[in-house]
Amino acid sequence: MKKVGLVGWRGMVGSVLMQRMREENDFALIEPVFFTTSNAGGAGPAESGGVALKDAKSIADLAKMDVIITCQGGDYTNEVFPQLRAAGWNGYWIDAASSLRMKDEAIIILDPVNKNVIQDGLVKGVKNYVGGNCTVSLMLMALGGLFQNDMIEWATSMTYQAASGAGAQNMRELIAQMGTIHASVADLLADPASAILDIDRKVAETMRSPVMPVQNFRGVPLAGSLIPWIDVPYENGQSKEEWKGGAECNKILGKPAFRTQGSVPIDGLCVRIGAMRCHSQALTIKLRQDVPLDEISEIIAKANDWVRVVPNERERSERELAPNAVTGHLHVPVGRLHKMAMGGEYLAAFTVGDQLLWGAAEPLRRMLRILLE
Ligand code: HSE
Repeated sequence: MKKVGLVGWRGMVGSVLMQRMREENDFALIEPVFFTTSNAGGAGPAESGGVALKDAKSIADLAKMDVIITCQGGDYTNEVFPQLRAAGWNGYWIDAASSLRMKDEAIIILDPVNKNVIQDGLVKGVKNYVGGNCTVSLMLMALGGLFQNDMIEWATSMTYQAASGAGAQNMRELIAQMGTIHASVADLLADPASAILDIDRKVAETMRSPVMPVQNFRGVPLAGSLIPWIDVPYENGQSKEEWKGGAECNKILGKPAFRTQGSVPIDGLCVRIGAMRCHSQALTIKLRQDVPLDEISEIIAKANDWVRVVPNERERSERELAPNAVTGHLHVPVGRLHKMAMGGEYLAAFTVGDQLLWGAAEPLRRMLRILLE
């Protein structure tokens, strides 16, 4: 059995990974070894077989692993990965963090979309496999069929990203903000005769006042508002999150580098909204040809086992194509499909996906399964 070291298994993404590995019985196929950055010698989870937690900074202990899966974050990867490789370790490194994603010696893993790229990498001896940006992975899970059939000339993705993408503390803060807003007008809400503009004024005052908990969202409220910028400024007026849309998407598909000849231009604005853990995206897609909508729906629906085409109907869209419906689930609905006013090559689409599942944990455990095949 392969010795598989798990690092960062207690954090938010790590916990989702553990849950999915338990559900799929992955632990029966491996010899898991649990590492920690803060509690070496402490007790591990049930799957540790009573073996104490190992130090996640111990190169000697890490080097005994055949595979390491880390959800510990980019700082950990930046610190430990180079030391481990410098020490001659030749095992498989599976990582949720973005640090290594765009390196030539790493492959971005999303096997329902790019199993061929992964298999090629394995044959060529690539040892580093990195989960993609959540928004990119969810877009490709939804629209992989159109990309795989090379039907897309360019696409824009306008995102509606959940608090979870910013971290566990941000999810807590979002709920605290909702509570603070409600508490500020609870008495007025209880009175059916109160004036809505009084309620609205009080809400706006509260949201702009120091009582609003905003520390994790860089000083601005998300509840009752939105934040039109995600991650650091990058290039050409894009945020880093927006740049990743083009850069990672092309790399996942095994295409030439973003902004070079033969790559697919993908761009858009990334916006944080008050959903908990589902990212949504509204896409404008320029098709290479005017393909009939029923053919497009079929190609999208057949691409993988998780994508679900939702008919472009009001009630089904409201019920099935929303974070509320998708949270905690692996299926990726895509809907609102219709040709746009600009012409038959212009397709509108809307998709929703759980950011912690396909957007983070699921590709990691599936990569492990590929290594065990
Ligand atoms: N960067 C993403 C976000 C999450 O902020 O929503 C990680 O892929």
